[in-house]
Amino acid sequence: MAHVKVFDTTLRDGEQSPGVNLNQLEKLEIAKQLERFGVDIMEAGFPASSQSEFHSVQTIARTIENSSVTGLARAKKSDIDTAWEALKDAAEPRLHIFLATSPIHMTHKLQKSPDEVIDIAVDMVSYAREKFPQVEWSAEDACRSDREFLVRIIEKVIDAGATVINVPDTVGYSTPAEYGDLFRYLRENVPNIDQVSLSAHCHDDLGMAVANSLAAIENGATQVEGTINGIGERAGNASLEEIAVALTIRNNYYNYQTNLVLSEIKRTSDLVSKFTGMEVPGNKAVVGRNAFAHESGIHQDGMLKNASTYEIITPEMVGIHKSNMVLGKHSGKHAFVEKVEGLGYSLSEENLMDAFKSFKSLTDRKKEVTDEDLFTILTNVQTDT
Ligand code: KIV
Ligand code: ZN
Repeated sequence: MAHVKVFDTTLRDGEQSPGVNLNQLEKLEIAKQLERFGVDIMEAGFPASSQSEFHSVQTIARTIENSSVTGLARAKKSDIDTAWEALKDAAEPRLHIFLATSPIHMTHKLQKSPDEVIDIAVDMVSYAREKFPQVEWSAEDACRSDREFLVRIIEKVIDAGATVINVPDTVGYSTPAEYGDLFRYLRENVPNIDQVSLSAHCHDDLGMAVANSLAAIENGATQVEGTINGIGERAGNASLEEIAVALTIRNNYYNYQTNLVLSEIKRTSDLVSKFTGMEVPGNKAVVGRNAFAHESGIHQDGMLKNASTYEIITPEMVGIHKSNMVLGKHSGKHAFVEKVEGLGYSLSEENLMDAFKSFKSLTDRKKEVTDEDLFTILTNVQTDT
């Protein structure tokens, strides 16, 4: 099975989520958990952005041993020098430089011609390689860039020493078919592309970040970037836990594996949610509180007979203790009995029927019946007899 590297940017692109501001201790704790999760590379931050960010990146670089630590830099010597100071003590220091390649960005933001952009990219990559053994170069807004221009600039940047080429869908504009096709095109047309890792980096503006990332992997990406819980600028980045689980559950289709330890997913997700203050939506794939919850009687009955009827992922696989039978208005007697027994009650058939009726009548007033509610119902039924 082929291997795809995982580049986590929770601490950089993820922290760019509006309203999120992690302190140095929180960043370090998340970094240690990302290492336990098994990410190949973690982007610890943007060292030139502030003094405190510099110290966070430096501390992470000095602490983490089993993942490569990187930091972001604009295509500017001063950013590269600052990043080197922050990252030079890392086990495997790495730099991530970006420069926009789309006509929209080159004209309005950079106010540079395409040839000037090529010169800057080449100069800064070769400058960075004087220090860093690994340099990733990102063609910002690649999906709205001219493909022939991408081929020209990528070839030159590889010649200048880049070891990873990242092709970001910066504004989440692409579709899976288009993004996959772009990777195939670059593989076929950039003559020296096989010398480097080719990386996918997707944003979720149209809700396609994970699908786009998987399409890139199918078409030649050897590295995939994303964040825990899919946090990030605007609608966020591709969610790494979703990509990892999709590759694992559908390995009959994808045939790719990562180094991630899937049983660390829940713990990583909880930590990121707690420190960022960004709640995980209940219905979020893999880590949402409903991802392994079953409410309808038909589903609960199927689950009690065999969990594979309604679950394609086992909760244990992602570090969740067990599936959750939620008692609500759609629940049937089977799940009710299971729950009552689980709470340690052994009732006569008559008491059980009375309790079930009280439970059903409570569901007309309450969306979810809790263990507390059940204790009240069961105590009433027992004291009535
Ligand atoms: O989305 C993006 O283009 C980025 C770059 C800095 C790689 O995050
Ligand atoms: Zn991004």
